[in-house]
Amino acid sequence: MDIHIWYTLLSALVGGVMGARGRLGEIRSIEMLHKRFESFPEAFAKTLSPQRISSRPVPQDSEAATKMYASIFSPFWNEIIKSLREEDYISNREMDLLMMPSNCGTLRLVQWPLFLLTSKIMLANDYASDCKDSQKELWHRISKDEYMAYAVKECYYSAERILKSIVDGEGKLWVERLFQYLNESIERDSLLVTINLKKLQLVQSRLTGLTGLLDTRRDC
Ligand SMILES: *[C@@H]1O[C@H](CO)[C@@H](O)[C@H](O)[C@H]1NC(C)=O
Repeated sequence: MDIHIWYTLLSALVGGVMGARGRLGEIRSIEMLHKRFESFPEAFAKTLSPQRISSRPVPQDSEAATKMYASIFSPFWNEIIKSLREEDYISNREMDLLMMPSNCGTLRLVQWPLFLLTSKIMLANDYASDCKDSQKELWHRISKDEYMAYAVKECYYSAERILKSIVDGEGKLWVERLFQYLNESIERDSLLVTINLKKLQLVQSRLTGLTGLLDTRRDC
């Protein structure tokens, strides 16, 4: 009998220690999921899909490497989300928020599922309108939340792409010149001098309206 109790205690203890070492049960809340999601692609690619990495060279540049891991991880993640939808655990809207972009395109930035990025742009915009110091300070504040930084960058790239894709001729040249100008002032750390950040709220609402229009056009 005694040995039985000892065995139970010992196995619970060993199991607990092994679980803790394997970081089992570490993700208990949605905040934890947000925090840890960034490390999923690399962990997945290295642990569960090593032959896929060995077949191609891992880029030296850390951002390019993360992008590559994300492209390996996203089809698997999306399969899980799709099956959750098929089983009716989540709605269509939830599925859209959870799906991860394929990350196979030419954009060098890693694209994350929308649930990690929602509301970040609005918050970043608030930071921008409050900002009284420098571009560096503002970027520092935004990058404290890495998903906010991703959201801002993706939004900037996408705005240029979308605008370029819907206009041609004179309009395209205008967009090109605008973004060249913005890029240059970002490089020179003088964005706050070049544009009035308070007006960004207006730009945001116009761009949101535009994407809404484009979306209904697609549905027609
Ligand atoms: C502006 O910078 C972004 C990011 O580096 C780049 O993708 C884009 O092509 C640049 N646009 C212009 C017009 O130089």
